[in-house]
Amino acid sequence: MIFASDNWAGAIPAVLDAVAAIGREGPAAAYGNDSTTARLEARLAELFEHEVAVLLVTTGTAANALAIAALAPPWGAVLAHEEAHLAIDECGAPEFFAGTRTLRLPGQRGKLDAEGLAARLAEIPRGLHHGELSVLSLTSPNEYGLVYAPGELAALCDVAKAHRLAVHLDGARFGNAVARLGCTPAEATWKAGVDVLSFGGTKGGCLMAEAIVAFDPALKEKLAFLRKRSGQLVSKQRLISAQFEAWLTDDRWLSAAAHANAMADRLATAIAAAPRARLAWRPQANEVFAFMTAAEAERLQAAGARFYDWSVAALGPEDRPEPGEKLWRFVTSFATTEMEVAAFAKLLRG
Ligand SMILES: Cc1ncc(COP(=O)(O)O)c(C=O)c1O
Repeated sequence: MIFASDNWAGAIPAVLDAVAAIGREGPAAAYGNDSTTARLEARLAELFEHEVAVLLVTTGTAANALAIAALAPPWGAVLAHEEAHLAIDECGAPEFFAGTRTLRLPGQRGKLDAEGLAARLAEIPRGLHHGELSVLSLTSPNEYGLVYAPGELAALCDVAKAHRLAVHLDGARFGNAVARLGCTPAEATWKAGVDVLSFGGTKGGCLMAEAIVAFDPALKEKLAFLRKRSGQLVSKQRLISAQFEAWLTDDRWLSAAAHANAMADRLATAIAAAPRARLAWRPQANEVFAFMTAAEAERLQAAGARFYDWSVAALGPEDRPEPGEKLWRFVTSFATTEMEVAAFAKLLRG
């Protein structure tokens, strides 16, 4: 009953096999000059139906920070939701690597909307003394497990572009969003106006593999220097490329995500029927949110369930916890089983 996070899961067997196979293969050129990395780059261009620059790194934090550094000058300002991982959970990495400031925007359940963004952009002071507004960073699925449909994304990107902002998308769980939306990776990114995607593989079934995917290949050189300077140019990069390649093969990334999403739906149904928990909202990816008391959470945790409490800062009035309740997050993964969810459902009823 591990619902703490999807990065608690191991890795998909095909990913592990690919790492073992490439490790046995013998020598290959270092620093990404190998044939596996070249193949992966071509595969990602095909997947996104667009020319791309691909830079592999080991963490989502690095992907986000370097993406921002590629898009913004050091005197730039980045707009992000106030609960965005990049704004509050990365120890200032984007500010450190990019030199930028992060301006935090409110938005219910972690989402920004085009109207709110336009209104905020109209009032943010600009000019020499304030820095240059440079990037809008969005997250999908976001910190509350909600996704931006292509239309919502396009509306936000249109506002950003009208203000000459580049758009970064934190896709630490991009597969879960695409699997849920049923759209193409292109529709979920550049077709809507996204310039750079942090494409997360780790939470979706890799060991540690994150790709910075820039839809303007001219960003490649800048990103390459940034990655080296940040210590993220892994010399045996083929080990990361092999993970990503195996994960994309036969659409494993999508089937793993669809499975995690389906497990989240089951979990949500169990929570909705529980006597001492309330489903906060229907999941749109692989994260489920529930209100319950700390005492009830402790009872579940004492029986072996793993999950964390969550910030209520971005909840609207209709989402408010009742007195004594807290918000809790449950994350499913490719490794979550129906039995695990059924065992938890039984525990919830107990
Ligand atoms: C939305 C989001 N972005 C980025 C990250 C960063 O991942 P990492 O822990 O690999 O730096 C996470 C990890 O929890 C996340 O949830």
